[in-house]
Formats: sequence, C-alpha cells, structure tokens
Amino acid sequence: MLFNGFSRRHFARIAAWSALGISTNSAEASQAGTSKEASRENGLAARGRAAGFPSGFLWGTATSAYQTEGAVNEDGRGPSIWDRQAHIPGKIADRSNADVANDSYHLYKDDVQLMKALGAKAYRFSIAWPRVFPEGTGTPNPKGLDFYDRLVDELLANGIEPFATMYHWDLPQALQDRFGGWMSRETATAFAEYAGHVAGRLSDRVKQFFTINECSRLVDLGYGAGVDAPGLTLAQQELNQVRHHVALGHGLAVRAIRAHGRAGIKVGPAENMVICVPAVETPANIRAAEIATRELNAGYLTVMLEGKYTDAFLAYAGKDAPKYTAEDLAVISSPVDFVGLNVYMPYHYVVAADDAPGFALAPFPASFPHMESDWLRIGPEAMYWAPRHVAKLWDVKSIYITENGTSAIDRPAADGQVYDVDRIMFLRSYLTQLQRATSEGVPVLGYFLWSLMDNFEWSDGYEKRFGLYRVDFRTQRRTPKLSASFYREVIARNAVA
Ligand code: NOJ
Repeated sequence: MLFNGFSRRHFARIAAWSALGISTNSAEASQAGTSKEASRENGLAARGRAAGFPSGFLWGTATSAYQTEGAVNEDGRGPSIWDRQAHIPGKIADRSNADVANDSYHLYKDDVQLMKALGAKAYRFSIAWPRVFPEGTGTPNPKGLDFYDRLVDELLANGIEPFATMYHWDLPQALQDRFGGWMSRETATAFAEYAGHVAGRLSDRVKQFFTINECSRLVDLGYGAGVDAPGLTLAQQELNQVRHHVALGHGLAVRAIRAHGRAGIKVGPAENMVICVPAVETPANIRAAEIATRELNAGYLTVMLEGKYTDAFLAYAGKDAPKYTAEDLAVISSPVDFVGLNVYMPYHYVVAADDAPGFALAPFPASFPHMESDWLRIGPEAMYWAPRHVAKLWDVKSIYITENGTSAIDRPAADGQVYDVDRIMFLRSYLTQLQRATSEGVPVLGYFLWSLMDNFEWSDGYEKRFGLYRVDFRTQRRTPKLSASFYREVIARNAVA
C-alpha cells in the first residue's frame, strides 16, 4: 500500500536509516528539520557541555584473539586450552566453538573499517600465544606474528592506535599438558619469554601493552569453578598457588616487555577488580568501600601495586596461603605505566562497620536488575568508583577502562535493524558516571567498549551478543546496531550523547 507516494516499507527504511544517523540524501530527509522544530529545540534548556570528557580522551573498542580470529589451524598455530574446552560436549551453551568465530584472521581489514566508521581512535586486541609459540615455549613459529604485523599496519594506516593484550586466556595446550598450566611457575616464566618476544617484534609500532586480561576470572572460573578452560576444580591451596603464579606471570611479563621493547613503550594489567560501591555516599561508607577494595583485590591489584599480600588475606587463607618468596613480591609489583580496568558491574555495595575489617557487604536483593547475561548487574556507579578507588588507594596516575559493555537480545526488527536501546541505556548510564569521574580529576585516559562486534562469548557460545555490530555467523555479515550510532555520537562530541 502506498503512503504519500511511499510504500510503508520504504518509509520504515528511511526512518531506520535516519535513526542510525545515515543520510538518505533525499529531499524528504533534508526537509526533516523544519525551522519550527529547530526553534522548539532552542526553547529547551540548553544541554550544555557538562557531559564532556577531557580533550584527547581516547575512545576505542575491544575484542580478543580466541573470541574473534578463527583460523585455529592456520599458519602453524598450535592448539590452546580453549580449543580443547570448546570441543568437550556440554561445555559451551550452544554447542559451538571458535574454530571460525568472526573469521577476523581473514576479515581484519573489514573490521578496521568498522572501527573507522565509528570514529574510534584505539583498538584493544589480544595476541594468540599459540600462534607465536605453538608449543608454549621453544622456537617461535616464523609465521606466528605475521597476522599481527598486518593488523597493526592496517590499524595505523587508518589512524587507530593499537593496544595489545598479551594474554586473553588462550594458553597453549602444550603448557597445560606439561605443567598443569598456571599451576606451575614454569608457565609464568614461559609467559614472560613469549611476552618479551612479542614486544621485541611489535614495539616499533605498538606502544601500549596489557599483560594479562582479568587474572581473577581465569583463576576462579578456569581453575576453581571449572567453567572456563582448563576446566579444573582445585582445592583452596592449589587455587591460591595458581593465583600467585598468575600475578607472578604479570610481573615477569612487565619486566620482559620493558627489557625487549623499544624505549617509551607503556605496560600495565587489564583487571576485573572487585568493585566496591559505597551503598550510600557518606564519608564513612566511602572509607569502608576503600578498605573493602584493598582487601577484596588482595590477590591481584593490591599485591601488584603494594608488593605484599595483606595481613587479612594471609590470615583468611591460613594454611592454604600461597607459597612465595620476597623476590616474587618484588617481581609482581614491578612498576606499571597504567592500570586497565574492565568495568561491568558493582561486585558489592558496602556499608561502614565498627568491627574489623571496618566494612560490611550489603546482600543483593533478588530484585536487583541485570542485563541479558544474568551475572551482569546494572550498577553504573561502578564506573565512577572503580577508577576513583584505584587512583585514591594506590595513587595511580593513568587508568584505562579496558572493557565496558553489555549483552542484549538484539533481535533484528522487521526492517532488519537492531534497535538495541537497552544497550544504549546501559552505555549512557555508565558513561555518565565515567564523565563524573573525569570531571573530578580521576585520571582516566581512555575507554574501550566491549565489544566492537558480537563474538564467541566463552561458555555462553554465540548466544550472548555484546557487539556494536551484529554479526551473522553464517555469512560473516556485520551490521551496525543502533548503539553503533550512539557510540559514534559520543566519540564525535567527546561527550555523553
Ligand atoms: C570480560 C572478558 O575479558 C571478555 O572476554 C568477555 O567477553 C567479556 N568480559 C564479557 O563477558
């Protein structure tokens, strides 16, 4: 049926295009903003520039190797613990694996164009250790870093700064078989050798490196709960020892990256710290949240930034405490240039308590809201408190938000577009809190949205979509969701849109 000369479908399509910020170049579109509408806008209170970020704030997107690259058997790549895990029946919700994933190993040039279309100026990706050292150690695969050479060149040619993560969980299976993976310090040493090798090869163009992505998740879900690879369920002492080896691996890698990389490169962790939010922002609760932050991150950020395990951590662990030397602690706390924080949700709401340790954790009511992934509680204020605690407690001068984003159901509408207004709501609320932090002088230098595009969400397979671009995994077609327009606006304005 025609509607003023247009079919309804045509009309819906134009509406969708303009909603996505894509010009139809048609007379109809150019007439859209009438002077009447414009004057009505002018009559509203000016939005002002209050929601702006510091100039030079770095806007980026993030992905990781195993979640996007595919090509698991190409150019000499060895198997990783995630290849093994994904092929065990029952481990992945939708029975998928990441053998092909987003095929970014071949489609990386297209992916760089997706970033460019957003106006993003930085990209956080990870290097697949089993591509570089198929056996984990020994002779490097001559083709191992070629893909990253090509990717880095393509990024730089498009004005996008590469930020490389050395370890995003895809441990070479050979190290699991030989040493039990991170159960052994051998893996920490092997990690440093690999990281040094990568820095030596790439640091002529890559200037920023993250060591390990989310130590606590790889330890607790990989070696404690058995949900992530390598799927182990260790007892407390062994688990604490794994925790220590991972922290040690971080410190050894910091030193190796500096030793083998060019002068001026920067390095730091990318942690999913336990984020403690004061339930009500009174001075006493804020102080309690700071104490809680220090104690509940004792195995990772606290030891990395203070060079010791807290007394409470050791007392709580008791006979299960990790075995370590003073030299280990010195290595773990090797100075870093920045701290990366993956911020998704508040872990705890904290209230002050008179008794030791000086804080209490409020229980979460069953009605606390979450996004599509049921673990992903909605608590935008986590984005304010995480960097603020890190800056205040440890006097950290440079912080990056290395991940933030959400899964959503993302069903395409009848016109084929994904109107993911729930993701926009989530991002807008979190970015508002980040702006609050930067406007108060919390030194956050940049933000990487997780994720550029839908990808393999570990044990959830492809069922949980986190991307700004929808990926059709049958055709590999990438289509911008409405949130891509939102993020493009944020970047263009350097302000919450
Ligand atoms: C953190 C992890 O680093 C990333 O790999 C994962 O996809 C996102 N969280 C979402 O769960």
